[in-house]
Amino acid sequence: MLFKDLESYCENHTHHPDAVLVELERQTHLQTISPQMISGKMQGRLLSLISKLLKPQYILEIGTFTSYSALCLAEGLDPTGELHTIEITEDYRHIVESTASKSKHFSKIHYHYGDALKIITNLNYPWDLVFLDAAKSKYLNFITILEGILKPGAVLIADNVLWYGKVVELEKDEDTRILDLFNKHLQDSKQWETQILALRDGLSISIKQEV
Ligand SMILES: C[S@@+](CC[C@H](N)C(=O)[O-])C[C@H]1O[C@@H](n2cnc3c(N)ncnc32)[C@H](O)[C@@H]1O
Repeated sequence: MLFKDLESYCENHTHHPDAVLVELERQTHLQTISPQMISGKMQGRLLSLISKLLKPQYILEIGTFTSYSALCLAEGLDPTGELHTIEITEDYRHIVESTASKSKHFSKIHYHYGDALKIITNLNYPWDLVFLDAAKSKYLNFITILEGILKPGAVLIADNVLWYGKVVELEKDEDTRILDLFNKHLQDSKQWETQILALRDGLSISIKQEV
């Protein structure tokens, strides 16, 4: 009860997203069967804040869905910066085109449709910030690719790293096992300095190290 009250208090005292983001969240709930995948207000505001602190030139997002997190991250881009986002299915494209397109940040976003595991290495940009939010079963594949292309100082934010709290259970299903290994890798590897936040479904923030 106390935790729920505090959660509401935090949400009520956090800066509000703009009208397009509010409408995009509403349309995502009305028009998709998995609306819980959207970052939403609290995580979206954190992504926006981190991006505004970093003022990145190049952002890579893996897992667009309806573009909520892409719009949040784009808020902090350098005025000449670009955000590239990759989505495996075109099922949500109509929502991106009808609603996300109304945002003043939309023109900074480049949409790529297809499997990110194949597309990432064709995008030759010196990424400053990466948001990993696609298939959890592929997180170890993604981290291997990202370690090969990211420069020291690049920031990696990974979503769902607590996976409904299942990472602490003894019996782990396959996705949970992979997320647990992903978290352990980020902690153990000399390539990363990492912090996990117990926000929503767990968000980890890591900085690529000089090794
Ligand atoms: C949790 S949703 C992304 C939510 C979005 N980032 C947000 O915060 O609003 C994950 C998305 O990743 C996409 N996806 C899954 N595997 C992928 C892959 N291999 N390449 C690109 N996109 C993928 C899914 O179709 C889904 O739309």
